[in-house]
Amino acid sequence: MMSCKGDAKEEIIDAPHVQWDNPVEAGRYLVTITGCNDCHTNGYLMMEGKVAEEDWLTGSPVGWQGPWGTTYPTNLRLLVEEWNEEIWVETLRNRKALPPMPWMNINKMSEYDMRAIYAYIKSLGPNGERMPLAVAPGQEPQTPYLSLFPQNMPLTSSETE
Ligand code: HEC
Repeated sequence: MMSCKGDAKEEIIDAPHVQWDNPVEAGRYLVTITGCNDCHTNGYLMMEGKVAEEDWLTGSPVGWQGPWGTTYPTNLRLLVEEWNEEIWVETLRNRKALPPMPWMNINKMSEYDMRAIYAYIKSLGPNGERMPLAVAPGQEPQTPYLSLFPQNMPLTSSETE
């Protein structure tokens, strides 16, 4: 497609991806619809998205706790200062890590879209602070957190036997 510029290889040109001449605008669209802000922008879900764009993707100091321990959505604005675009693409394509980061979905994103998201985040410039490190299962975090432990679930057949 004519709108797909750059030195991209043939095989990624064939993959479904957002078609737009300006990768920053494509990245902004992708970030909005794929839900990166839901977790990586503090308060975004609770405020129905009414967070100034300059504060988007600065991470969240509120942990997400579950059987995996407590994880904190990373400040992606600082991350793209440390990671070049190739590390970004490699990581999004291959990493399997802790919830609730939806790695199983992001692993399937087309390379164009990964690069567009990188271009958009980079265009926003660095902002905010580093988020806390993940806390191991069974340890009490020193920060606010949300509990994602399943509640009131029906018993599975193995538990009723
Ligand atoms: C449901 C919540 C959620 C959504 C949606 C989400 N993330 Fe994450 N993300 C997290 C959490 C929590 C972590 C930290 C996980 C950990 O500590 O292992 C994380 C980690 C990451 C990392 C790794 C950072 C590092 O330091 O290694 C990248 C990159 C990332 N997210 C990018 C994205 C992008 C891009 C999107 C949108 C396409 C997105 N995330 C959507 C919750 C989310």
